[in-house]
Amino acid sequence: MGRLSAAVIAAHPTLLPRPLPDLENDLDDHIRPASIGVFDSGVGGLSVLRKLRRRLPGASMVYVGDGAFAPYGSRPAVQILARCERIVGHLAGQGARLIVVACNTATVQAIDSLREHWPALTFVGVEPGIKPAVAVSRSGRIAVMATPATLQSARLRQLVEHHAAGASVLLQPCPGLADVIEAGELDGPALLAVLTPYCDRITQAGVDTVVLACTHYAFVTDAIRRLLGPGVTLIDTAAAVAERAANVWADADSRGALMLRAQSTGDPRTMRRLLLQCAGFESAEVEPLTL
Ligand code: DGL
Repeated sequence: MGRLSAAVIAAHPTLLPRPLPDLENDLDDHIRPASIGVFDSGVGGLSVLRKLRRRLPGASMVYVGDGAFAPYGSRPAVQILARCERIVGHLAGQGARLIVVACNTATVQAIDSLREHWPALTFVGVEPGIKPAVAVSRSGRIAVMATPATLQSARLRQLVEHHAAGASVLLQPCPGLADVIEAGELDGPALLAVLTPYCDRITQAGVDTVVLACTHYAFVTDAIRRLLGPGVTLIDTAAAVAERAANVWADADSRGALMLRAQSTGDPRTMRRLLLQCAGFESAEVEPLTL
C-alpha cells in the first residue's frame, strides 16, 4: 500500500489526558479541538483507522490499543465492558466526541451499554458482516471467523437470525489468532500453525464467502486467501465502518493532514510497525498508556 505524504502524526499539547469527565458539563470544545476516538483490544483497529484516514484526511484522531488486556475475545463480557468504559472515559477526556469501537468483540459485547452510559458521545461500531456476506454468496453457504466472545454474543445470534435465515452459516471461533497477530506474526509458521486448522474446517464446509469478524484478521488476509483458495470471497467491513463514521462526523474537514495520537497499554512494537507498513504513515510515535 502506498504511503500518503500528507500524513502527520503529532501529539497535541492541548489533548492531554484528564480525569474522567462529566460530559454534560464538559463539552467545551473551544478549549480542545473535538476529535475522533478509535479503540480496539490492540492493533486490529488500525485496519479501520487506515480506512478512516482515507475518508477523513483532515480529522484529529486518538487511537487506543488495549494491548495489556488483549485478547478481549477470550474474556468474559463483564471484563470487556469494564475495559471499554475505561477507554471511552479516557478518550472523552482527550476531546473525543465520536467513538469508533474498532473491535467486533467490544462492539457486540459492549456498545449498547456504552451508548447508554455516555449519551453525549456518538458511537460507531464494527459488527460482523453477515448481511453483506449473504448478499454476495452464490451458494448460500458462509462462514464467520471471529473470537469466541463475538460468536457467543446475543448480537451475533440476532445478526444471523435477521440476515441469514435461509443460509447455512458456519461459526468458526479462532482462539489464538488475534494473539499471534498482536505479537506481530503476520505470516510464517507461528501464524499458519494457528490459522490452518480453522481454514481447513471452513474449506470442509464448502462455503464460498467468509466474514472476517475480527479487525485483527484484516492484517493476515494474504495467508487466509492462500489457505482458502481463490473461490472464496472475504468480507471485511472496515471501509463501511469508516464511511458510516465519516457521515456522522459533523466536523469533517477534507483539507490538511490527519492529526493522530496513537497510544498503547501494551507492547507498542506491532502498533508502530503496522502504522508504518499497513496504514501508510511515514512515522509512528506510540505513547505508552496506563489505564
Ligand atoms: N480485534 C478484536 C475484534 O475485532 C478482538 C481481538 C481480541 O482481542 O480478541 O474482535
